[in-house]
Amino acid sequence: MGIKTMAKIIMGIESSCDDTGVAIIRATESSNTIDYNPVDIMANMLLSQLELHKKYGGVMPEVASRAHLDIMPFLIREALSQAKLQVADLDAIAVTAGPGLIGGIVVGSTMAKSIAAASGKSIIAINHLEAHALVIRALQRCEFPFLILLVSGGHCQILIAKEIGAYEVIGRTIDDSIGECFDKVARALGLGYPGGPQIELRAKNGEKGRFSFPKPLCNNHEHCNFSLSGLKTAAIRTIQQNAPLSYDVINDFCAAFQDTIAEIITNRLDVAIKMYETSINDATLNRNIVICGGVASNEYIKNTISKHIQGKGFTLCAPPPEFSTDNAVMIAWAGWEKLRLGEVSGLDFEPRSRWDM
Ligand code: KG4
Ligand code: ZN
Repeated sequence: MGIKTMAKIIMGIESSCDDTGVAIIRATESSNTIDYNPVDIMANMLLSQLELHKKYGGVMPEVASRAHLDIMPFLIREALSQAKLQVADLDAIAVTAGPGLIGGIVVGSTMAKSIAAASGKSIIAINHLEAHALVIRALQRCEFPFLILLVSGGHCQILIAKEIGAYEVIGRTIDDSIGECFDKVARALGLGYPGGPQIELRAKNGEKGRFSFPKPLCNNHEHCNFSLSGLKTAAIRTIQQNAPLSYDVINDFCAAFQDTIAEIITNRLDVAIKMYETSINDATLNRNIVICGGVASNEYIKNTISKHIQGKGFTLCAPPPEFSTDNAVMIAWAGWEKLRLGEVSGLDFEPRSRWDM
């Protein structure tokens, strides 16, 4: 059959929120099949701006873009040095072109365009959400089609991934995202930002039985949309009515709240699975659900979903936490997925604050 493997080296640049990331990967493919060997990560630089934004209780866009501009050139140099490469060795530069905070996206795009312009290398504009969804394929075998549960600070969607670039949104939140709900409830509890990891930590020592919360839309079997604002409001009201909450009560509260979110997700996935099976209608259907976005680093939520969907013959495919939250490896990998299909961008692509998958 004559399988020819060819390696491509791709730099990924991420700056759409409060993490500045630069990664370099080496990906290979054979001439007739996709090579699912885990990708070679040659450099993975990530600098969180968390400390800068903590005092504001959220990300300050202006502060974020200035910090990206300050640090990005040094991360690029450091990544090349770690990988023992020069720009001339790269095959392409992939960069987050949206969605996210426009100032940061402009910084990353400008850096990437400058390198590409000066070196003549290909540039690939990447949708940050698509990168979240595809990174699992850098780490394990996960063939199309599959279901995607995208749960981040800015997004809450269920999609059918048909192939690269072909995603059908079958459900989405009609109000808040899950990450946002975690963050606002954590703030009301005085737990700081970002709220998700804090709530997960406190829930570990809590009993979920002490509180019960509403699960909006959970008796709707017609669609797999989410609604989180009723839960958020009820949770914040409970905090205010019971203030001040003792250390142990906060733990119990977090356990109950986190469990409610997990139950809402499994309930919505039940409907999504039915929609997926009807839509694809193929006995050989891949029964994989890819979870991605910041909330996908929550172990309790992942375990609950995983156990639940196993009963339906589905497997949860979850990247490890460092590839669930924002990172540049996922941008480089999405670049590879596009490059393999010959989908490179022009130097004139436009950064976009909004960009649906
Ligand atoms: O994908 P991400 O890093 O950034 C974007 O929004 O694009 O997601 C950040 C969100 C935040 O709302 C954060 O609270 C949430 O993900 N998050 C978590 C956990 N880690 C991060 N939520 C629940 N449990 C976690 N362990
Ligand atoms: Zn993200």
